[in-house]
Order: sequence, then structure tokens, then C-alpha cells
Amino acid sequence: MKKKILITGGAGFIGSHLVRLFVNKYPDYDIINLDKLTYAGNLKNITDIENSANYKFVKGDIQDKDFLDSLFKSEKITDVIHLAAESHVDRSISGPMEFIITNIVGTANLLEVARSNWEGEDHTFYHISTDEVYGSLGEEGFFYEDTAYDPRSPYSASKASSDHLVRAYHHTYNFPIKISNCSNNYGSHQFPEKLIPLMINNIRNNKPLPVYGTGENVRDWLWVEDHARAIDVIFHKGKVGETYNIGGWNEWTNIALVKEMCRIMDEKLGRDTGTSEKLITYVTDRAGHDMRYAIDATKIKDELGWVPSLEFEEGLDKTIDWYLNNEDWINNVTSGDYQKYYDEHYSS
Ligand code: NAD
Ligand code: TYD
Repeated sequence: MKKKILITGGAGFIGSHLVRLFVNKYPDYDIINLDKLTYAGNLKNITDIENSANYKFVKGDIQDKDFLDSLFKSEKITDVIHLAAESHVDRSISGPMEFIITNIVGTANLLEVARSNWEGEDHTFYHISTDEVYGSLGEEGFFYEDTAYDPRSPYSASKASSDHLVRAYHHTYNFPIKISNCSNNYGSHQFPEKLIPLMINNIRNNKPLPVYGTGENVRDWLWVEDHARAIDVIFHKGKVGETYNIGGWNEWTNIALVKEMCRIMDEKLGRDTGTSEKLITYVTDRAGHDMRYAIDATKIKDELGWVPSLEFEEGLDKTIDWYLNNEDWINNVTSGDYQKYYDEHYSS
């Protein structure tokens, strides 16, 4: 049976990298990219593959179950890789309902529609999730695949709920699922509400660099194209019903990372050393701010042979270059509503 893979959220940050990888690497698959094009979805992220013979874009909302059902029937979807979500923790704090409806109900809609349309065993429903479902670590330890869930933000709680639903479909209906939980991604085309692109954009524009709380919170950063490679490996070789953690073995405190970005950008922009660091401004902490995330990615390494391909130093350098060389992209996404979000979020 020819594979017709529905990738949801393929106009977003990670989704656009994944769609590009699959369209270019698998000419024998049909790739259908379903995306609502919220503020975070941008067709400019994937202009290079939009005319490929094995690719089709469909604008639509996973909140609409009837629409999903007719799409499954008309396109004869064989597999799903599900990335569509509301993805920003700060927005989930100021407005949780959209997260609950898209991330939980939207995932339930997809599960139900896939379950009612699929027969036989030659299908995969692969749900893309986050390490934030595991909660917050102290100074020691890692998240493992069997770490108990302890989500703390509306975003992570909505992703945890969707993970539970996906697993429940496997246990209850023997539905063919896979799940992966990944650490913080960085790379090109990331919307500048997230730490790394927000700081790059502000350094470029000589604007204050808002570091939450003490800046000592720790995140484990992974290059987005390595995440896309991991998804490819899990989709093709991962075991049905299993969960895989994906991480970069690359922990940074926020403040150390922001200072490193300042150092690199001073060099690239021809500024005196230390110029950009002066922009750092400590601001009110995020409510319920998780202290530390760190993934143990041994299972995917040992069982599927995946390891990150790029050193962080090189990835960060490439990422900064991409934003500096793509002013049109950044200017386009920071006009209009972004300014309103920024002013509301960072004014206090
Ligand atoms: P993103 O916000 O950049 O993109 C999300 C995409 O989903 C956008 O294109 C948006 O238009 C689309 N979308 C939102 N609501 C929709 C709806 N109701 N129907 C259809 N499409 C809708 O997010 P991202 O950073 O690319 O994350 C993608 C997935 O990976 C999410 O499920 C997220 O939880 C997960 N994840 C992200 C990270 C990270 O560091 N960014 C890490 C681990 C897991
Ligand atoms: P973010 O990129 O929002 O990812 P997540 O919250 O999903 O990990 O934030 C990464 C870290 O950076 C997190 O500890 C919050 C912090 N942060 C700031 O200090 N300032 C900012 O302006 C943003 C957006 C994040």
C-alpha cells in the first residue's frame, strides 16, 4: 500500500523541517501537510518544497472532526505524524483554553478519525510530544521514558493529557501508536516568542533581553533538524506502542546561553565585546517556572542508533546566521500581532 502520511502542524517550526525531510527523502510517499496557519504557522517556512509532486498542503483545524473525517476518506490517509499544537508556555499561562481545545480535543479528534478509518495493521499514529510532561528536575537526575508524569503548566498538562489519550488508544483498542518526548529545539524558522530567536532578534535590534527570574533555569537544547531525523528513525524503526525520549545531552542555564549569544553576536555584528550583554534585563519570573529539564536519550541511541549530529556551538552559530540573513522572514513575523503580544507580555 502506498503511504499517504498526514503531517499535522507542518507549517510550524519543527513541522516545516520534518515535512521538508520527508518530501525530499521519500519521493514514494505522499505527504499531506495539514495546518490551521495560526500565528505560529507560516507557509513561507516551506516554499522550497511547495511544488514537489509528492506534497500537498491543506489548510484546516484539528478541532474540526468532520473535516478530519472527510480528509481521511478523500486522501486515504495511511499514517499520521501529529505535531499540530499550541506550543508556547507563556501563552498557555495567559490563555489556557486554546491549549486544551487544540492539544487535547484536537488530538482526540485525530485518534477517533484514524481509528474509525483504518483497517488492518499497516498504519502508524505517531504523536510528537515534549519532555515538559515529566515536570521539573532539581540539580541532579534525568527524565527517562518511565519517569512519572508531573506536568505543571497548562501547556505541559495539555500535552500530557494528549499523550495519555494516545497511550490509552493503544492499550484499549490495540491502536498502532508511537510517542516521542523531546527537549527544547532550536534552529531556523522558530517563532521569536521562544527564548533563542527572541534573544537573537532583540540583540540585533538593541532591545532589552528579558531574562526570567534569576536566569538559573536549565534547558537541554537540540538542533531542530536532529529532532526531525529522530522522528524519521522512530517512524520507520521504532516499536509500536513504545515511547522514546529525544534530547541533546546539552544543558545550559538561560543566563549562560543568553551571554553566549551576546558574545557570538557582538563578533558577527562588529560590536565591541560586552556591548550586547549590557542589554540583559532580569524581569519577573514566569509563573510556576520549571527549574530544569534534562533528557536521558539512551534508549533511542541503543535501540535505534540515533544520536545528535551537530555540536551546539555549530548549531547556534548556524541559527544566528540564519536569522541575520533572513531579515524579511523575521520582519514579517514580528509585524502586526507580535508587537501586541510582546507589549502585553513584557510590559510588567
Ligand atoms: P509551533 O507553534 O511552531 O507550530 C505549531 C503548528 O501547529 C503551527 O503551524 C500551527 O499553525 C499549527 N496548529 C496550531 N493549532 C492548530 C490546529 N488547531 N489545527 C491545525 N494546526 C494547528 O510548534 P513547534 O515548536 O513546531 O512544535 C511542534 C510540536 O512539537 C508540538 O506538538 C510541540 O508540543 C512539540 N514539541 C516542541 C518542542 C520545541 O522545543 N519547540 C519540543 C518538544 C516537542
Ligand atoms: P521557552 O523558549 O519559552 O521554552 P520552554 O519554556 O518551553 O522551555 O523558554 C526557555 C527558557 O527561557 C525558559 O526557562 C524560560 C526562559 N525565557 C526567558 O528567560 N525569557 C524569555 O523571554 C523567554 C521567552 C523564555
